[in-house]
Amino acid sequence: MQRYECALITGATRGIGLAFARELARSGCRLVIVARGEQRLAEVAAELLAQGAVEVVPLVCDLSKEGAAAWLHEECCKRGLNVDLVVNNAGLFAYCDQTALDNERVKAMLQLNVVAPTELSRLFVGDMVGRGRGAIVNISSYAALMAWPGLAMYSGTKAYLDTYTCALAREVRGHGVRVLSVVPAGVATDLYGLPPRLQRVGLRLGVLWSAERVARGSLRALGGSRVRYVPGVLNRVLRPVVRHLPERVISFLRRKTLVFQK
Ligand SMILES: NC(=O)c1ccc[n+]([C@@H]2O[C@H](COP(=O)([O-])OP(=O)(O)OC[C@H]3O[C@@H](n4cnc5c(N)ncnc54)[C@H](OP(=O)(O)O)[C@@H]3O)[C@@H](O)[C@H]2O)c1
Repeated sequence: MQRYECALITGATRGIGLAFARELARSGCRLVIVARGEQRLAEVAAELLAQGAVEVVPLVCDLSKEGAAAWLHEECCKRGLNVDLVVNNAGLFAYCDQTALDNERVKAMLQLNVVAPTELSRLFVGDMVGRGRGAIVNISSYAALMAWPGLAMYSGTKAYLDTYTCALAREVRGHGVRVLSVVPAGVATDLYGLPPRLQRVGLRLGVLWSAERVARGSLRALGGSRVRYVPGVLNRVLRPVVRHLPERVISFLRRKTLVFQK
C-alpha cells in the first residue's frame, strides 16, 4: 500500500469509513476524521492514535447540510493540513418508494450522497493537481447497477457518484492524482439496520463482505490504474446479470421485499 501523509475520511466512526481509518492509522498516517457524533469521534480518535496514527483531527460536521464541504476544506487549509488522500465515504441509505419519502430525507440524501462528495472531490483535487500528487476514493455502491423500485434515490445517487468519479479519474490522471470509484455489494455494517447476529451470518455465508476487506482492497486498488474497484470476483462477474434482470424477476423480488421498506 502506498503511504499517505494526511488522509481525510468522511463517516470515519463506523463501518467502512472506520475500517479505512484503522488501516491508514497503522501505516502511520495523519488523519482527519469526520462524522456528526462528537463523543464517538473522540473515542475513535483515541483508538487511532493508539494504533499508530501520527495525529488525529476529529471534525464534527453534518455533510447533509449546505456548505459543509467548503467548511471542511477551509478548516484543513487553516490548520495547514496537506491532505493527500480523501475518502468520501459517508452516505445515506433508504429503501422506500418515492411517494413515501419526505422532502427532508430527499434533500439530505442528495446533499450527502451527491453534493458533498462532488464538492469535496473538486476542492481537494484542485490542491492535489497543484502539488502533482494525491488520491480521492469515492464510495459508490453495487446498487448503482440496479434501477430497483424503492431504491430510486440510493441507486440514482450512487450511479451518479460512480460515473462522476470515473470521469474525474480520467481528467486528472495526467497530473499525478489517482481517483477511484469503489463499488461494494453487501458489507456487514449498520447502514441497513441489519442486527449484528444477521451480519455475522451474512459474513459466514459469504454474502456480505467485512468493512476491513473492502478498505484494504480499495487501498490496494489505488496502487493500480483502474478507475473502478468492485470488491469480490463473483460481484464483478455478476455485474452484467444484475444490470439486466428481467422485469418479472424484479417484480417478484419487489413483492418479497416490500415489508423491509422504511
Ligand atoms: N454497508 C453496505 O453494504 C454498503 C454497500 C455499498 C456501499 N456502501 C456505502 O459505503 C458508505 C459507508 O457505509 P457504511 O455501511 O460503512 O455506513 P455506516 O456503518 O452506517 O457508517 C456511516 C458513517 O457515516 C457517518 N455519517 C452518517 N451521516 C453523516 C452525515 N450527514 N454527515 C457526516 N457523517 C455522516 C456516520 O457517523 P455519524 O452518524 O456520527 O454522523 C458513520 O461514521 C456509504 O456511502 C454507503 O452508501 C455501503
